[in-house]
Amino acid sequence: MRATYRSFAKVNLHLEVVGLRPDGYHELRTVFQSIDLCDLVSLELGGHGVRLEVSGHDLPADESNLAHRAAAAFLSTWPLVDGVRIKLEKRIPVGGGLGGGSSNAAAVLRGLRDLLGVQLATDARLQELGRDLGADVAFFLTGGTALGLGRGDEIIRLADLPERDLWLVTPAVEVSTAEVFQEFRDLTADREISSMGPPAWDEGLDWQMAARGWNDLQPLVMRRFPEVGRVYNALVEAGARVVRLSGSGATLFACFEAPVGSAELESRLPTDCRVLRTRTLKRTSLQRLRVVQ
Ligand code: C5P
Repeated sequence: MRATYRSFAKVNLHLEVVGLRPDGYHELRTVFQSIDLCDLVSLELGGHGVRLEVSGHDLPADESNLAHRAAAAFLSTWPLVDGVRIKLEKRIPVGGGLGGGSSNAAAVLRGLRDLLGVQLATDARLQELGRDLGADVAFFLTGGTALGLGRGDEIIRLADLPERDLWLVTPAVEVSTAEVFQEFRDLTADREISSMGPPAWDEGLDWQMAARGWNDLQPLVMRRFPEVGRVYNALVEAGARVVRLSGSGATLFACFEAPVGSAELESRLPTDCRVLRTRTLKRTSLQRLRVVQ
């Protein structure tokens, strides 16, 4: 039995670091938004153990890959088959703050439940497995527009924002999430991290409110990686109404009022950037995760 699933990316419309937790992670208040940029995850039941093949990006295909770990965790919880073969086609920029690895893990968990028809794998049980794999996996099991609290893994569904175009610009730098959080921690060690008091996101969010969000990691990432600052300035000069870092970067997303052409935008940006036009997705649009072949 085999099937292929779309594994969508996300942006963080808002990301606020509200404190340091006893477990060493940071307490977040973030708004996730699914976007239509996706990797493809093909699953084929059979064989022994987990076998993973990755194309489209030079990534490890062993246990260090979250898709591999997700399959192993699923099969050790529900040992209904001896093995699964996974083919992962990468399109989402790696190390961009777009959650590609976590999204792949969520796609594997949902895909295996779909193929094996595991009745016990309730959403809550999958969320538990997902949380152990990484902080963002829980969001990808829900999708749409959602608030993330705790490590970012306590997910509260928000009413979906209307779908709209977003531009993603990924500068040619590799950002380590762990290092960014470590530096944030060092910078804020001698003072209380204070929340500016975000808008009442959970009472209903619209694009005007989302535009007033921010990302607490952005100043630090722009200082550490001047390329990110250059892209930020170029997008503002190109007329973007909102330019914001997603997660710990290095991808910035931008919203324009008027339609803008990709050639025009690319001509204003450093040549080694990756520029992608995407569209946000409502939770209902995610229901067609399975690719019909
Ligand atoms: O969950 P994930 O493995 O993506 O996180 C990578 C690293 O980022 C963690 O090991 C941790 O150092 C840091 N992090 C954090 N607080 C969070 C999420 C991640 O400090 N809420």
